[in-house]
Order: sequence, then C-alpha cells, then structure tokens
Amino acid sequence: MTAVLDIPVQRVQSSKLLQVALENVPFGKHFTDHMLEADYVNGEWTNVVIRPYQPLNFDPSMAALHYGQAIFEGIKAYKDEAGNAYIFRPDENLKRFNLSAARMMMPEVPAELFLDGMRQLIALEKDWIPALPDHSLYIRPFMFATDAILGVKASDTYKFMIILSPTGPYFSVPMKIWVEEHFTRAVAGGVGFSKNAGNYGASMYPTQLAREKGYDQVLWTDAREHRFVQEVGMMNVFFVFGQKVVTPSLEEGTILDGITRKSVLVLLDEMGYQVEERPLAMDEVMEAYAKGELTEVFGAGTAATISMIELLGYKEEKLHFDTQKFVTAPALKKALNDIRQSKVADTHGWMVKI
Ligand SMILES: Cc1ncc(COP(=O)(O)O)c(C=O)c1O
Repeated sequence: MTAVLDIPVQRVQSSKLLQVALENVPFGKHFTDHMLEADYVNGEWTNVVIRPYQPLNFDPSMAALHYGQAIFEGIKAYKDEAGNAYIFRPDENLKRFNLSAARMMMPEVPAELFLDGMRQLIALEKDWIPALPDHSLYIRPFMFATDAILGVKASDTYKFMIILSPTGPYFSVPMKIWVEEHFTRAVAGGVGFSKNAGNYGASMYPTQLAREKGYDQVLWTDAREHRFVQEVGMMNVFFVFGQKVVTPSLEEGTILDGITRKSVLVLLDEMGYQVEERPLAMDEVMEAYAKGELTEVFGAGTAATISMIELLGYKEEKLHFDTQKFVTAPALKKALNDIRQSKVADTHGWMVKI
C-alpha cells in the first residue's frame, strides 16, 4: 500500500463561503477557498501544497501556452443527507488522466497525489459541497507544461493542480444535435481519447457554426468517411433500438472513454438491455429511424449525467424524437443520480467516501 501523503496546508484567514449562495449555484463560476498544487521538477513531483485559491504567476514563454501540453479531468463529489461526502469513481479519472498524460508526453501523476490530494482538499472544503438535491462539488484536476522556453519539445517541468467549484443542478433540456460531416474532432492515431485542452479548443468553431444553424452541439463522425458516429459535445452517445442499445466502441482511440459511459454500460446490462459497443454508421441510424426502430438517442457525461436528444440534423434530413416517450434515458438518469446522491445502496463500489 502506498503511504498517504502528508500535504502541508496553508489556510485562508477567512472563508469566502458566506458570500456564495450554494443553492442553484451556476457551474464553474465560484471556486472554493483552497487549491492543491504540485510541481514536477528533475523527474519527480515536489512542492505539494494546499494553499489559498489565487492567481498564478508565469513566464510568458510557458510551454503549455504555446505548444498545448495541457490536460484535465472532470469529477463530482456529493454529500448525502447525513452529511457524508463521496466522490464518484475518481480512480477511473486517475487512469484516464494518466492515459492523457502519456499521449501528450507528460509525466504520470501518482495515485497518492491525485487521489489522496483530492480527498484531503475536499475534506478541507467539505462545507462547500452543497447539501441540496442534485447539487455537487465539481472537481477539476489539471496539469500543464511549465518550461519557460520556446523550443518545440516536451517540457521538462509541469504543474499539477486541483481546484473545486460548487455546482447546482444541471437543468438538461432535450438537445438538438448537428451531425458534422465537414469538420473532424479526432482521427485514428490522434488524440481523441485524451482529455487534452486542444481537443476542446478545436471543437469551438464547428460548434458555433452548428449553433448558428439552431443546434446545441455537434455529433462528430469519423475523419475518413464521415459515416461512423463518434461522440457529442462533452458526452458519449447512445442509440436505443427497442431493447438493444448501441454506443460507438473505443478501439480506434477517437472518442473519450467516459466514466458515465462506463457506468451506463453496466447499468444497461443490469436492466436487461442487449448492449453493443461497435462502430455505428449513420446509414444504419437513418434506416432504423425510417422503420421506426430507433426509439431514443441520448448523451452521457459527468456534467448532465444523461441528456436526451430531440433532434438530429443530418445532411438535409431532420430526425425528430419525442423525448416524452423516452424510457431508457430517464431510467438511467434516475439510477445514476440515485447512486450519486446515496439514495440507493452503492452495490458497484463506485462512491469513494471522504
Ligand atoms: C469529449 C468528451 N466526451 C465524453 C465525455 C464524458 O466523459 P465522463 O462521463 O467521464 O464525464 C466528456 C466529459 O468529460 C468529454 O469531454
């Protein structure tokens, strides 16, 4: 067993908490009193500290700003009615974080820094987890290259940080989705499976064009033929054909291996659905829609849990779905939220107590 890190804590003199109304607090706008910080220097992690949340000071030549070695994760912590705090599957985020790090030629972050660091920071900030239904504390671990040099090469130094942001319920209205056939999010051999900042920067322009057409998000398709569906916005996508559910498989490395996706696959199996992870072509989607066999389409991700899709715009076609009739997506949303809010027993061992 690895030793639990003894992280020095520099406390704030007075908390900002009294100035923030936690009820319905908007996502990502308020940050808790403290942050975790660590530096990678000379091949090891050092200077691990929890200190007051504050701006950072950097050299303008800092490598991350120029060549994009920057990765992040998104996780949520919840408080139950008895006041106990839990994090949802952070070990999975650690694995994904280190996969992203390896692809971006960045150092691995050890479990004790990522997980114990997160636990200690949240324990200190426990009062910031809203004890309200459907509220949570959003956890943002991230790492970026800090060499102050303009040579194009992997940085020798990095900073790892964790910041926390209380968040209210995500009132997810059904989404309108544009099936993208011109722009590409990810190619086989590329960086689609990693949660690096550049993937998000590159998606903003195509998403804005889709918004101008009246859609909320883009459904990405494969780079070669624009036939096979990949994922939607910041969510993995699921297609329901009655009792059969299909979601794109991961083997090409073009989509993010979502923790919600992973959890949904387990729950669908337990609910008795036939689940298929495989390439899914838009021709198959169109044919099933025409025959009335495509019953639901939805996205799954940490932010909204499950988001129903009411419209798919594909070429000249508009595929409408009556989300009032959806059965699978609402059942999954309830099942996942019940686990995360500790309303049912955590039979899968997904909730890590702080
Ligand atoms: C591109 C992308 N796909 C899928 C997901 C869903 O992943 P998760 O369920 O781990 O939040 C996210 C959100 O993190 C994402 O950014």
